[in-house]
Amino acid sequence: MTEIDIIKPTIKNLEEVVAVENAAWPNIGDCMVADISKFALRLKLGLMWLLYCDGHPAGIISYQYPSFMDASAGEKILHEYKQREGFIPWKKLTQEYHLPQNWYEATHDGKIITEEKSTHNPHGDCVFLISVGVDASLKGKGLVNHLIAHTLQQAKASGKTIALGYGRLPQLHQSYQTATIQQAEAHLQQQKPGTDLPADFGARFHVVNGAKAISVIPHAMDDPESLDYGFLALYGLK
Ligand SMILES: CC(C)(COP(=O)(O)OP(=O)(O)OC[C@H]1O[C@@H](n2cnc3c(N)ncnc32)[C@H](O)[C@@H]1OP(=O)(O)O)[C@@H](O)C(=O)NCCC(=O)NCCS
Repeated sequence: MTEIDIIKPTIKNLEEVVAVENAAWPNIGDCMVADISKFALRLKLGLMWLLYCDGHPAGIISYQYPSFMDASAGEKILHEYKQREGFIPWKKLTQEYHLPQNWYEATHDGKIITEEKSTHNPHGDCVFLISVGVDASLKGKGLVNHLIAHTLQQAKASGKTIALGYGRLPQLHQSYQTATIQQAEAHLQQQKPGTDLPADFGARFHVVNGAKAISVIPHAMDDPESLDYGFLALYGLK
């Protein structure tokens, strides 16, 4: 039986965290891999979880409490999504709820806090999932679900009622070389055969863990697999 242990890593775990990050991302350019200084700060701020599988570091997740969003806005977006029964245009969400246009804006380029700017509010009532990664040699064991479920459970226990993230669509490039927003939306709507879950594994783990795929985000991040698209994953934690 696989033994799973999830810990709150500290700066002492920096090397393990960086090794998991490097083992997680496919070889699609360094742009997707966070550097050591970003992890050092996240660890100091206590904004990560580290998963061990059978005693080996195997998965990491980073998060923040976003300064740009509160739970009441999240509840309103969820309500609008249910009324609409379909995607909400990204432009509408950025205009009406002031959501950051892309992942870089939402996370201050993954740096979270610098002297100039911060995207983290330690007293915020939401949690923003910055990035999750699982060692590619351990794919298919559902480790990502342990990381997401643990993060949501801990967020809920500390009083957060909304979680969100700018998810990826890493299988979009398998169907298109470039895609329109309508094609990206149709891709996100495609279901894994025999399920009501997204066919794209980048969206599937969010939905399995209770997220709604609210909106397709154009130019979400420089991400060749996702043709730079992303999507807003929003979880109600009540
Ligand atoms: C996305 C990621 C976190 C998934 O972690 P994981 O623990 O390997 O996920 P699982 O084992 O639960 O697999 C999830 C599903 O995706 C499928 N899957 C995983 N990687 C896949 C791949 N490269 N291609 C196709 N399917 C894949 C699995 O078969 C599984 O299918 P199921 O839902 O039918 O069981 C991991 O692949 C990863 O670290 N990728 C690089 C970083 C990334 O994209 N992070 C997410 C956005 S920040």
